Amino acid sequence: MSFNDKVIVITGASSGIGKALAIGFLATGARVALCARNLDKLQEAFVAFDNNKLLLMTADVSKEADCKNFVNTVLAKWGNIDAVVNNAGMSMRALFEEVDLEVIRNLMDINFWGTVYMCKYALPAILKSKGIIVGVSSIAGYRGLPARTGYSASKFAMQGFLESLRTELLHTGAHVMWVSPGFTASNIRNTALSATGTAQQETPLAEDKLMSAEECAERIIKAMRLRKRTVVMTVQGKLAVWLNKLIPLFVDNQVYNLFLKEPNSPLRKYEK
Ligand SMILES: NC(=O)c1ccc[n+]([C@@H]2O[C@H](COP(=O)([O-])OP(=O)(O)OC[C@H]3O[C@@H](n4cnc5c(N)ncnc54)[C@H](OP(=O)(O)O)[C@@H]3O)[C@@H](O)[C@H]2O)c1
Repeated sequence: MSFNDKVIVITGASSGIGKALAIGFLATGARVALCARNLDKLQEAFVAFDNNKLLLMTADVSKEADCKNFVNTVLAKWGNIDAVVNNAGMSMRALFEEVDLEVIRNLMDINFWGTVYMCKYALPAILKSKGIIVGVSSIAGYRGLPARTGYSASKFAMQGFLESLRTELLHTGAHVMWVSPGFTASNIRNTALSATGTAQQETPLAEDKLMSAEECAERIIKAMRLRKRTVVMTVQGKLAVWLNKLIPLFVDNQVYNLFLKEPNSPLRKYEK
């Protein structure tokens, strides 16, 4: 499938994977409609690109009215939508024992409900174009991660929703898929919410050793071109998903130990 002149809607495109996806799609000749909460940052990221192929909007995907307005604005400008990439997302890093429940609600609102709202309002256009709905999920959507209860729950919910929707739409010509990147260099660990809902403002990982957002985006675009069902991107991710089905207790221990090794791991509380 060629993306030339197709209309691709991407949420959360001012940074990381969303920004790299938008740049990748612009290189294919697609028209891209992008949103984020911070419009200045979004505009700054795309200042060098052809305005005729771009639509930049403020939208907070956790707000239904913003999603409706975003979709309607794209349709008013270009008349159709060929793909919606539900990429906007946030993470967390805190023990469930200590986390303010508002943090979990917030992550569900962005990562899960944001996807539901976008799909609801874009679906008539996607059915018409026989287009693609994509969820940018995570390995955390297959395997619960410690100190990420709200994040994992939101990605499991996203995948369950998309799998149901895919099955509903099986004979319509529209396609539903999700992709699960492994650790990818981006801003997500800096903005991850603490127990009280503030940004962590630091990453526990060596970001320069992770998959680049550009490589991740390239793989997503290829998967969309091939209309794949799901993509689990890294060897570590594939192993986690596969072994978790076969020997889940072993994976509990492996995952615990991996996250215990992080600098300032919240899990240290339970090691005393
Ligand atoms: N990086 C990884 O290691 C990794 C691994 C697996 C999956 N993922 C998934 O990949 C997706 C993209 O994350 P990233 O790593 O590229 O993170 P990122 O660099 O932090 O980018 C997140 C983007 O989403 C936007 N955003 C956040 N909340 C939003 C909201 N409520 N409404 C609209 N836009 C919002 C941000 O802009 P504003 O703050 O201006 O809104 C930003 O443009 C997420 O769904 C994440 O779960 C990432």
